Amino acid sequence: MDHLFSTKIGTELEPAIHFLSANEVVAIPTETVYGLAANALSENAVLKIFEAKNRPHFNPLIVHIKDWKEASNYAETIPALLSTLAENFCPGPITFLVPKKDCIPDLVTAGSPYVALRVPNHPLCLSLLQQLPFPLAAPSANPFGYVSPVTAAHVLQGLNGKIPYILDGGTCSIGLESTIVSVDQHKVVVHRVGGISVEAIAACINDSVVLQTHNEQAPTTAGQLKSHYATHTPLIIGDPALLFKEHAAKKIGIIAFTNTYEALQGAQVWTLSSQHNLSAAAANLFRALREADAYGLDLIIAERFPDQDLGRAINDRLHRAQALFK
Ligand code: TXA
Ligand code: MG
Repeated sequence: MDHLFSTKIGTELEPAIHFLSANEVVAIPTETVYGLAANALSENAVLKIFEAKNRPHFNPLIVHIKDWKEASNYAETIPALLSTLAENFCPGPITFLVPKKDCIPDLVTAGSPYVALRVPNHPLCLSLLQQLPFPLAAPSANPFGYVSPVTAAHVLQGLNGKIPYILDGGTCSIGLESTIVSVDQHKVVVHRVGGISVEAIAACINDSVVLQTHNEQAPTTAGQLKSHYATHTPLIIGDPALLFKEHAAKKIGIIAFTNTYEALQGAQVWTLSSQHNLSAAAANLFRALREADAYGLDLIIAERFPDQDLGRAINDRLHRAQALFK
C-alpha cells in the first residue's frame, strides 16, 4: 500500500485525540500488545483499521472501554459469571464476549451479535480513553498474520506510512494478548488463552472452565486462524538439543525458557526467563521472536513450555507460529 502518512511516534495524548476524533487510526499502548485503534462507533473509522492492517473484514475487533461500568452501554446483557470475572480482573488482560447493542457497528463484530469488550490496564491508554467521548476498536497493531508488537518501534516496523501517529507507552508489561472469554450454559468458555491464566479464572469462579481454543473447522476468532503470530523464518517446536543435531547444516536460533544451551555451538539462543518465571517469559516472547526473525536464520527451534499458567498462552502462540510451515 502507498505511504499515506509520515508516521510520528510520541508520548503526548493530544495528537492521538486529534486524529482519533477525525476518524483516523492511531496505534496505542496497552499492557498486552500495542493496538491499532479507531472510534468503535464509526464504521468509517473502523474500515481504516482493516485497510492499514490488511486484515480480512470477517475478523471482528475488540472494543476498548475506560471502565467496566461502561460495558452496559455496549452490551445488551452481562452474564453474572462475567461480572464476577470483570470485578476481579478489570482493568486487565481479559476480553469479554457479550451480546452487543445496536450502537456497535456490524463491521466491528463482523456481523456477530456478540461484541468483545476489554478494559486495558495501561495508564496512558486509560487517560486517552477517559478523554475521548467514544470507545476504541483495536486489533493488535501488526500487519495481519505477523507477531504482535510490544514496543512503538515494532509498530513502526510494520505500519510505517500507513498511520499518522503511534502513542508510545513503553514496552508492554504482559506481552501476550488478552484472554477471551464468554459464558455458555453457565460455564465460562475460553476462546483464546492469554494474559490471564485459565487457572486464575477457574480459581476466581470456583469452577472449571471450558477451553474452546482449537476450533479449526469453524474459526470464530482471528486468534484461531492457523497462520497467526507467525515469523517469516520457519519455526518448529521440540527438544532443541535433538533438533539442533537433526538440522546441523542450518543456521539455527533457539527460543528457550531457562536454558542457555551453551553446548550447542553456533546456535543463537534467546533465553526468556533465567529465573524460571512464566510471566517474565511471556513478556519476552514476542520481542525474542522478532529478533530471531531479523537474525537471518534458516530455522527457529522453540522449546515446549510447561503447560500451565502463562505457559499455555506461550505454547499456543508458538504452535500457531509453527502451523504455517507444516
Ligand atoms: O490484548 C489484546 O486483546 C489486544 C490488545 C490490543 O487489546 N488485541 C488483540 O486484538 O489481540 P486482535 O484483533 O489481534 O485479536 C482479537 C481477537 C480476535 O481473535 C478476534 O477474532 C476476537 O478477538 N474477537 C473480537 N471480537 C469478537 C467477537 N465479536 N466474537 C468473537 N471473537 C471476537
Ligand atoms: Mg492480533
